[in-house]
Amino acid sequence: MPKKLNVGVIGCGFMGRTHSNAYLQVGHFFEREHKPVLKACCARIEEKEKLEKFANTWGYESLEFDWKELLERSDIDLIDVCVPNVLHHDLVIAAAKAGKMIVCEKPLAMNVREAEEMVAAVEQAGVANMVSFNYRRVPAISLAKQVIDEGRVGRPFHYRATYNQDYTISADVPQGGMALWRLDAKVAGSGVTGDLLAHSIDTAEWLNGPIQKVVAHTETFIKERKHAETGKVEPVTIDDACMFLALFANGSMGTFESTRYARGRKNYSTFEINGENGALMFDLEDPHILQYFKYVDPATGKKIEDHLTGWQRINVTNFEHPYMKHWWVPGCTIGYEHTFINGLADFLASLEGGPAFHPTVRDALHTQRVCEAVLDSAKRGAWVEIPV
Ligand SMILES: NC(=O)c1ccc[n+]([C@@H]2O[C@H](COP(=O)([O-])OP(=O)(O)OC[C@H]3O[C@@H](n4cnc5c(N)ncnc54)[C@H](O)[C@@H]3O)[C@@H](O)[C@H]2O)c1
Repeated sequence: MPKKLNVGVIGCGFMGRTHSNAYLQVGHFFEREHKPVLKACCARIEEKEKLEKFANTWGYESLEFDWKELLERSDIDLIDVCVPNVLHHDLVIAAAKAGKMIVCEKPLAMNVREAEEMVAAVEQAGVANMVSFNYRRVPAISLAKQVIDEGRVGRPFHYRATYNQDYTISADVPQGGMALWRLDAKVAGSGVTGDLLAHSIDTAEWLNGPIQKVVAHTETFIKERKHAETGKVEPVTIDDACMFLALFANGSMGTFESTRYARGRKNYSTFEINGENGALMFDLEDPHILQYFKYVDPATGKKIEDHLTGWQRINVTNFEHPYMKHWWVPGCTIGYEHTFINGLADFLASLEGGPAFHPTVRDALHTQRVCEAVLDSAKRGAWVEIPV
């Protein structure tokens, strides 16, 4: 008999949908003892109609309009935080105190102080937890991790990441309010640094180890925007664009770029790592492809003397590739939503004696430290060290 895992999801927006889909789908593709049950969803009373529609679409058994009441329910095992960043701190701490398992969207918090308090509460409660840096579960990115761990890249010299979008170029886009909270620092914590670069940093540290210090520049191209809630024109306090240099503990150098002003780019996230023995390149606009340059033959340890040496485009859809044996037949691709399902499958496996789940809130605290160091550096125009 499967063990029921009763889930309460807070937030019925973009992430509420991707997570609901993952809870419904995971058991269809991965054999797990736990069977997630969509027990309750929660949003503010102002969103009553939207929440009712959401509950019907995904099949939630009940609705709540106050997250405190949801947390008091004894029939909920896991709380899933899919709300704007400003709410993560209070919700995660309260969920930990209530002894619930926790799934929290990224970035973990508004700042390091909040993130430290969250980690302390979660670790004191000893509850299973996951932060939704879902890109680790793109099969091609997981394969990159495997290739690096196998030593095929060798000593790394360079890591470069971009995460670019273009949806805030118009000065007419207001800030704040339900759909536009990402432009309001009081709700988002920061702009592209916490929203987009947090993903790039999580992936980079997973693949290439900890970042030790950074120097950054940020820009806010449009200085004032109308606030959607007050109707007043107010200063914009988020970073619209951010570039930073990083030094990794392994001695390699990194460059990171993110902007919401890259005309033509919608969710363009890339990384490249160049090592002594090989190199890897990934582009989220071509998500099932991992590019690999083999310089040294891993079997002999010798340089490949071959007139066909060059970048290989590996179509990461075979059964031997990460996660793919759970999906369709080789050559058939999977997409964005599957990263959340793959992550949930790993989380459930960790509850059932499988490998420990990462990233946890503690892992996400380090990402938060890098984000805060980046913002601090941009303010001060100086290198900033990141505590381990
Ligand atoms: N992992 C990813 O790739 C990814 C992608 C997008 C967003 N996110 C993160 O997910 C979180 C939510 O983002 P989103 O895009 O789903 O936002 P969204 O604006 O689409 O949805 C947010 C939802 O929060 C809910 N909400 C707001 N205040 C609430 C309250 N007081 N109580 C209960 N519910 C409340 C509303 O129901 C709203 O629908 C953010 O932390 C964001 O950074 C992660």
